[in-house]
Amino acid sequence: MCGIVGYIGQKSGVDVVLGGLEALEYRGYDSAGLALVNDDGGQVFKQVGRVNGLVDAVNTEHPASNLVIGHTRWATHGTPSLVNAHPQSNNQQTIFVVHNGIIENFAELRERLQAAGYNFTSQTDTEVIPNLIDYYAKQLPSFEAAFKAALGDVHGAYAIAAISTDEPDTLYAARLSSPLVIGVGEQEHYLASDPAAIMAHTKRVIYLEDYDVAVISGNDVDVHNLKHNRHAKPKAELLDYDNEQALLGDFPNFMLKEIFEAPATIRSATLGRALADRSLVKLGGLENVLGQLKYIDRIVIVACGTSYYAGLLGEYLIEELSGIPVEVHMASEFKYRDEPFSRGTALLAISQSGETADTIAALKKVEDYGVLRLGIVNAVGSTIARMTDAGVYCHAGPERAVASSKAFIAQTTVLALIALHLSNGNTKLFKPLLDELDALPAKAQAVLDNAGRIKAIAEKYARHRDFLFIGRQYAYPMAMEGALKLKEVSYIHAEGYAAGEMKHGPLAMIDKDFPTFAIAIDSPLLEKTISNIQEIKARGGPVIALATQGNKSLEQLCDDVIYLPHTMHETQPMLQAIAVQLFAYYIATARGFDVDHPRNLAKSVTVE
Ligand code: AGP
Repeated sequence: MCGIVGYIGQKSGVDVVLGGLEALEYRGYDSAGLALVNDDGGQVFKQVGRVNGLVDAVNTEHPASNLVIGHTRWATHGTPSLVNAHPQSNNQQTIFVVHNGIIENFAELRERLQAAGYNFTSQTDTEVIPNLIDYYAKQLPSFEAAFKAALGDVHGAYAIAAISTDEPDTLYAARLSSPLVIGVGEQEHYLASDPAAIMAHTKRVIYLEDYDVAVISGNDVDVHNLKHNRHAKPKAELLDYDNEQALLGDFPNFMLKEIFEAPATIRSATLGRALADRSLVKLGGLENVLGQLKYIDRIVIVACGTSYYAGLLGEYLIEELSGIPVEVHMASEFKYRDEPFSRGTALLAISQSGETADTIAALKKVEDYGVLRLGIVNAVGSTIARMTDAGVYCHAGPERAVASSKAFIAQTTVLALIALHLSNGNTKLFKPLLDELDALPAKAQAVLDNAGRIKAIAEKYARHRDFLFIGRQYAYPMAMEGALKLKEVSYIHAEGYAAGEMKHGPLAMIDKDFPTFAIAIDSPLLEKTISNIQEIKARGGPVIALATQGNKSLEQLCDDVIYLPHTMHETQPMLQAIAVQLFAYYIATARGFDVDHPRNLAKSVTVE
């Protein structure tokens, strides 16, 4: 989604900000821009489309400045266009603002400003901000006071960076429900909505909290929390981020690279945690809440998209291994429910980015309920990681492709560990599952070694318009995740269904042009899934089956079979995930799509 980069210091701010915007490209955007202030005043550059267009436009003019803000925009209010791209400015072009989030009362503010003589040229909500600052700057003694007064008027969610030609030595920033960090260098400061934008320069960061307003110069940062009316000189924290992992290496795109990281992902999610030789699960992130965990009698999981499907797998895992009842809610729905909540309930948020607005809102909703708030998060130091009482990091490393792959595998692995942890060893599966988690990276590698066969099958089906994914028990959430992956990157209509539901409706869609991807792994339920496949075949529907290595029974019945190594039911999803991810990937590339940047989607969804 939208990205913010800012710089103040001795270097060429233009180069820093353009580099930062390039680093944010993976998040998805439709236009980009920057504003700078120097002795000649202010200047704005904008481009619709890729950041390299902006780089070319800026570089033809070679502007010099040590105070620059930049933005990648993902349209919410108004189409992707030059006039709607950020930075937005006031009528005199002296105040420049970039903004992530949504100003909910922008229409009312615009009317108020129009009545005071201000003109608006864009369809964005953001344009009210520089004009509102301008309005207050005419009445108040300083830009800082005007900036704060403007923030007092806006409702919604925001991360904002602002600069003014009247203040060539100061960068202003503010956040409410949208991430923003300040990077600390030598006599210089960086600003970013995602640390990836500034990691090439510094790993020392200050996390801004909700209602913080930061006044930043080359040497100093002053943070004023407007809600608590508290001033602070915050200390920088060292960010744990591996730049190497964020590079493409020999892979053609991040999606394929990240799928191929599955074995390493399982290894790092279990490293030092799944101690098979000692029959022990050690989750350091939960140690400070061990006392509270003993009294948990219900877990509510909240998440969105792929993380939600990991949550559904978590429901099976936690209930089977620990006996604690689990409910899983889409965070966007959970926010608006009025359900009873007892003190014995724990809320568990699952998020790759740790910045998903709906999941953050779900956590905020229970803030005053006195319940334990747990997190399974990949992005270290992200908002969700910091607002939960305790949690377990996925340790999957940066995930750049919009379609989540390795993070899903890490989330599911961590959920298995949490389920084992909550079982207190009172399950006969404890030791076998720990041993299997140990063996799993090699089995994941075996699935990847079969990528050529998955590619050949995917190419055969690449021109179909519809797809059904079916499965039972653990394979049911996997059917939904398989369908989501295919939709996201190949734009093929796909649905994930519980195989047992076929006769209750979806069977009506089946004909020779409507293929089914059936997850038909060896299990006590296999016979039932085979019956569903037979019903599909009887209606002329092509079937691709995901089967267990060594079980040839599906070859007669199905059109194509992809084999997976044998593993426990509880670890099957991690192997199935690789197969459905590769299937979606190869269909999308056969159709010629940019898999890392699917149309209309963003990597981290920071608005409702
Ligand atoms: C996954 O492929 C999607 N791009 C999307 O569904 C994603 O999982 C969802 O937006 C949640 O993101 P999060 O894990 O960062 O919270």
